[in-house]
Amino acid sequence: MAILKIARMGHPVLATPARPVENPAAPEIRALIRDMEETMLDAPGIGLAAPQVHVPLRIVVFLVPERPGELEPRADAARDGADEDPARVPDGLNVLINPVIEPLGEEMEENWEGCLSVPGMTGRVPRFVRIRYSGLDVEGRHFAREAAGFHARVVQHECDHLDGILYPRRMRDLASFGFVEEIRKTHGADAGNEE
Ligand code: NI
Repeated sequence: MAILKIARMGHPVLATPARPVENPAAPEIRALIRDMEETMLDAPGIGLAAPQVHVPLRIVVFLVPERPGELEPRADAARDGADEDPARVPDGLNVLINPVIEPLGEEMEENWEGCLSVPGMTGRVPRFVRIRYSGLDVEGRHFAREAAGFHARVVQHECDHLDGILYPRRMRDLASFGFVEEIRKTHGADAGNEE
């Protein structure tokens, strides 16, 4: 187990599309996933994509906090997902290999996002409200799941990393882009998740 160095915006690995994982059961992939989980929890963050630790492979790990306060200060944003069926919120750590996202409907909503690769910053990002996503789990088994609200937002943010896209590129208006410390003075504690 190891805590890995997180790449910051400007490093080319964050702007390059990642390659599919050919053998999810390979020992080096298992080890990478464990290190990614440890790195994310240490940061602390709620999501991490392999390119963020300088590995150009299509792997993400993420958490969807179930209760506000579980992962301060980010969990307030989970209110976002209030319309989501709680039974569908996955427990604990999620591993997603070679993911594919399909929007369910055209509805989008804006909310605050942050990113471990853009430390200290936050901005309002439009995302699809409902999605279906599929991929391989940590055992290499194919699965598909529907998500809404905050859960859907986290998955879209993390999967963007696999295509070399950081959230500022998704923003419609850079007027809301700024330092978390400053933005929270006017917009409250829900600004700025570390994904
Ligand atoms: Ni991110």
